[in-house]
Amino acid sequence: MVLKVFRWSPGFRERIQRFWVPAKDGMTVLDALVDAQRRLDPTLAFRYACRVGMCGSCGMVINGRERWACRTLLKSLKTRIVTVRPLYHFPLIRDLVVDLAPLAEQTARVGATFVPKEEPAAFARVGAAAPERQRIDPAIECIGCGMCVSACTMVANDERFPGPAALNRFFTVVADSRDAG
Ligand code: SF4
Ligand code: FES
Repeated sequence: MVLKVFRWSPGFRERIQRFWVPAKDGMTVLDALVDAQRRLDPTLAFRYACRVGMCGSCGMVINGRERWACRTLLKSLKTRIVTVRPLYHFPLIRDLVVDLAPLAEQTARVGATFVPKEEPAAFARVGAAAPERQRIDPAIECIGCGMCVSACTMVANDERFPGPAALNRFFTVVADSRDAG
């Protein structure tokens, strides 16, 4: 398969570099990038840590859509040419690596921080099966990968818009009856 990868580093012009990688059964886009880096070009920069869709560090734009590279099987893309570029709407550091600091800044800016009520310390009142908890549950699955921000056209339209990840976090705090903020 052919991996077409966005390359850029400070002081150089951006370009697309092609890597020929032997696709094997069960191989992910992250596996293909690691193979290209180890065999063909050790200067290729990208992030990953958990390799199982938990840390969110491998978010990138693959064939035009935001995906976690570690959870994207080459086979599922149904093409022999795979294009990879960094997330949109974040400052670029190098190649596929972006600066995710704006995500934390946007979250802080909307005030999505838990403020405990002034009351004696006690065990949590919100049980796992409580309707309140179930309403919040999907939103606390966020692993801060930044892919929704990259995919959101409104983020580019108006810099005052905090973006979906910060609003999602904001919702979890607003909907939490223990929050006094
Ligand atoms: S809400 Fe956004 S930042 Fe959080 S996991 Fe989903 S795509 Fe990633
Ligand atoms: S490496 Fe952690 S989500 Fe992909």
